[in-house]
Amino acid sequence: MLKTDNMLDGLNVDKITSGYVIDHIKAGYGMSIYKHLRLDELDCSIALIQNVKSSKYGRKDIIKIQGLIDIDMDMLGYIDPNITVITVKNHEVRGKQTLKLPVKLTDVVKCKNPRCITSNETSLSHEFRLTDRTKKVYRCVYCEQENK
Ligand code: CTP
Ligand code: ZN
Repeated sequence: MLKTDNMLDGLNVDKITSGYVIDHIKAGYGMSIYKHLRLDELDCSIALIQNVKSSKYGRKDIIKIQGLIDIDMDMLGYIDPNITVITVKNHEVRGKQTLKLPVKLTDVVKCKNPRCITSNETSLSHEFRLTDRTKKVYRCVYCEQENK
């Protein structure tokens, strides 16, 4: 098995031993996913690969995380349901998970309605539910405010 990955436009990025590969990220969104998942706060090695050629997407970003951390799949599915999360254990691909828009979002986005109970009760979690899958509309479960 080749140790390095030769599919990355000439960039050499090692294969990982154990962890996750977040693949098929729309080009340009890798950094925003990195920030949303708070990967900078982790004590593990991470590669953010940007703007490489992909047969399916033209261009894509990839994030490789060396370490089996907890990944917020709802957050990822909300940002981009076309993402694939590949689990690697003992150097081998052990699973590929495709994402979809989650039906419920808990503490992924905040309600912007100043009169919403969540604006005053800071201990409450911000809950949204998917009300229109094709238009990607989510509404706050407390005040029905649409998330835009
Ligand atoms: N990968 C990795 N470390 C490993 C195994 C795989 O970083 N130990 C990465 C590969 O570099 C690739 C992704 O995980 O980006 C998926 O691996 P694999 O299924 O072997 O690649 P492909 O067959 O190219 O997958 P696909 O065609 O679905 O994109
Ligand atoms: Zn609300």
